[in-house]
Amino acid sequence: MGNSSTGRVALVTGAAHRIGAAIARELHRAGCRVLIHYRSSAAGAQQLLRELNAVRPDSCAALQADLCRANDVRELAAQAAALAPGLDLLVNNASAFYATPLGNVTDAQWNELFDANLKGAFFLSQALAPALARRQGAIVNIVDIHADIPLPQHTVYTMAKAGLAMMTRALAVELGPSVRVNGIAPGAILWPEQPNVVLGAAHADTLLAQTALKRMGTPEDIAGAARFLGLEAPYVTGQVLAVDGGRNLY
Ligand SMILES: NC(=O)c1ccc[n+]([C@@H]2O[C@H](COP(=O)([O-])OP(=O)(O)OC[C@H]3O[C@@H](n4cnc5c(N)ncnc54)[C@H](OP(=O)(O)O)[C@@H]3O)[C@@H](O)[C@H]2O)c1
Repeated sequence: MGNSSTGRVALVTGAAHRIGAAIARELHRAGCRVLIHYRSSAAGAQQLLRELNAVRPDSCAALQADLCRANDVRELAAQAAALAPGLDLLVNNASAFYATPLGNVTDAQWNELFDANLKGAFFLSQALAPALARRQGAIVNIVDIHADIPLPQHTVYTMAKAGLAMMTRALAVELGPSVRVNGIAPGAILWPEQPNVVLGAAHADTLLAQTALKRMGTPEDIAGAARFLGLEAPYVTGQVLAVDGGRNLY
């Protein structure tokens, strides 16, 4: 594991567990000081913070915010600015994901899915854009292949992710040339922690059958792409890279 700092700073949202934690570890390995955001997973965030600070002292801090709350988003941006002298990379990874079968969709579900997946990412990006611009930084949005391919009974989630894909391209124009903005569209990486009763177990088999590489990806696959787009791709902006084993070919 790398042990030297590059002086670069990255903020990763939803980083206490799963893909977000893998992205935080990878960016830390690349020499970044990592600010890990969490909402309710305080214990997971603290564990990751201890792990990363044990590798390099004071190389990780944890920040709590509910991205569905506008005030929390403002506070998160302010705390990130106060903790670090500058910001090089923002990874908008946090997400709410659940089924919303048509006919029963509530305002509360619409708001949560759009706020956690899109509105929070937008306002956090807006708040941090000046800091990112000062360091010729980057934004990486974690989208979903289902921004382009409908996922049965998940219309609201897929609409929010489609918005995030457009936000990637629109902000690349608006923030260029100072800030690069890219996205990653994961395919099947980790199943949700709660079994998806709406899609059912058969969905997993169908999905893998329609994936060229016939297997799931790993959080490290997404983390490697985030490192590339965030830190190592100076002439790439406005792109959404599918990291999906070829799922988007079917
Ligand atoms: N897993 C996959 O196979 C897959 C496939 C396609 C796309 N993706 C995308 O990849 C990213 C990571 O996936 P994942 O499965 O690792 O995500 P996840 O576990 O479903 O969610 C990541 C984190 O988002 C945070 N979050 C949820 N609502 C929030 C809110 N209102 N405010 C702030 N944080 C909130 C949660 O933080 P706390 O735990 O702290 O509450 C959670 O740990 C997501 O953007 C997801 O859409 C994943």
